[in-house]
Amino acid sequence: MNQILKYISDNQNRFLDELNSFISIPSVSTSIENSKDMKRCAEWLSDHLKNIGLSNIQIFNTPGHPIVYGDWIGAPGKPTVLIYGHYDVQPAEPLELWISPPFQGTIRGGNYYARGASDDKGQVFIHLKSIEAFLKNNGSLPVNIKIILEGEEEIGSENLEPFLRQHKDLLKADLVLISDTSMFARGVPSVCYGLRGLSYMQIDLVGPDKDLHSGSYGGSVHNPIQALAEIISSLHDKNGKIKVDGFYDDVIKLTKEERSSFKRLPWNDKKFAKELGIKKLYGESGFTTLERLWARPTLECNGILGGFTGEGAKTVLPSKASAKISMRLVPNQKPDKIAKLFEKHIKKITPSTVKVTVKNLHGGEPAMTPINSPGVQTAISALEKGFGKKPLYQREGGSIPIVVQFKKILGIDSVLLGFGLPDENAHAPNEFLYLENFFGGIRTVAHFYNELPGFMKK
Ligand code: BES
Ligand code: ZN
Repeated sequence: MNQILKYISDNQNRFLDELNSFISIPSVSTSIENSKDMKRCAEWLSDHLKNIGLSNIQIFNTPGHPIVYGDWIGAPGKPTVLIYGHYDVQPAEPLELWISPPFQGTIRGGNYYARGASDDKGQVFIHLKSIEAFLKNNGSLPVNIKIILEGEEEIGSENLEPFLRQHKDLLKADLVLISDTSMFARGVPSVCYGLRGLSYMQIDLVGPDKDLHSGSYGGSVHNPIQALAEIISSLHDKNGKIKVDGFYDDVIKLTKEERSSFKRLPWNDKKFAKELGIKKLYGESGFTTLERLWARPTLECNGILGGFTGEGAKTVLPSKASAKISMRLVPNQKPDKIAKLFEKHIKKITPSTVKVTVKNLHGGEPAMTPINSPGVQTAISALEKGFGKKPLYQREGGSIPIVVQFKKILGIDSVLLGFGLPDENAHAPNEFLYLENFFGGIRTVAHFYNELPGFMKK
């Protein structure tokens, strides 16, 4: 191991140069203008997998963006790790808020700034460099490795699920290893054992069949924006409970043990509010902030469209109004069922003065991984070696929809070994990755590979 760790520390600058080249490809999955970049990024990765010594490299085309595969299966009798990550990123806009260009990696104050630095290109790269360290030094790895890198995580992973079904044999493994979450805080390593699910909906209201003069018609027509606002504001009660009929029916209650384990974590509400620039936190009453973030479902309005939003004033009574609404789900809520309940509820409460359509945009199931599995125990030990500190157990509020499918289709649990930080501006301007976590991550993953065979035997 000493030689591996020395290699990781001797090659830091080259690793960053290579990461710059990966980062410089604007692999924004949601925008059609970037489809060529998505292809280019997949090709860049496939070349890189080859350079670090992986075999059987393939680019699988899908109806959407390509999936990149590679493996090293030279350790018969040893466990097989399936590494999953995503090379697609969120759009960089608004560009004017970036201090340095989003697709040009820039180091400031010990952080590496770029779109995808933390979510998830930087974290994917942690794995590639750890694999490289073994293959270049020993010509072998302590475990078998298979890696899949997809380009559609940020848009719901729609084509990955059929891919898993079609390639069950190719993807056969003992566990999945994913670095696409955050550590608890700077200097506080953690293993994540739960993710929330998601149900993403759109409400479209239509009132009059064209925009009207608000003077000639105001007073005689229910403004669809007002109707929409009334609907949205009725979706929570004054205690922050969600008022969609049946919404909480399948929610698993937090156990006493889990509540007290959350309470033992080093958390401070005041500090959290201050960092966000708000005077006071807000949420469902009867629960602590961490409980609300990780183990309680939520309903958020992501955006409202409608009416005149240009500069200046225009007296108009608009024909249409829409809202995008997402619900974060917890075990055992199912996105399809929640989408149906939501649609039924919205139809029930929409006033007869407007027409309504409710669309289901996408969804993903919540996921939990067993903490006493050999994979999680290996992660705990590896983090302690990589960061020199005992890690914590935590859940997360975000979603990685494919995690549940790994279990359902391939029959294997995922280990969520994340090296991001909660405040790294993921999905926002000035996204960054804390460089200590980048290098600590490479060391940790190396320890993970080294120690997994021992933990699997126990
Ligand atoms: N890396 C995130 C998942 C994540 C977010 C984990 C926050 C932990 C904390 C991932 O890339 C992501 O953003 N997922 C989407 C999924 C959605 C598009 C189905 C999310 O959570 O919104
Ligand atoms: Zn993301």
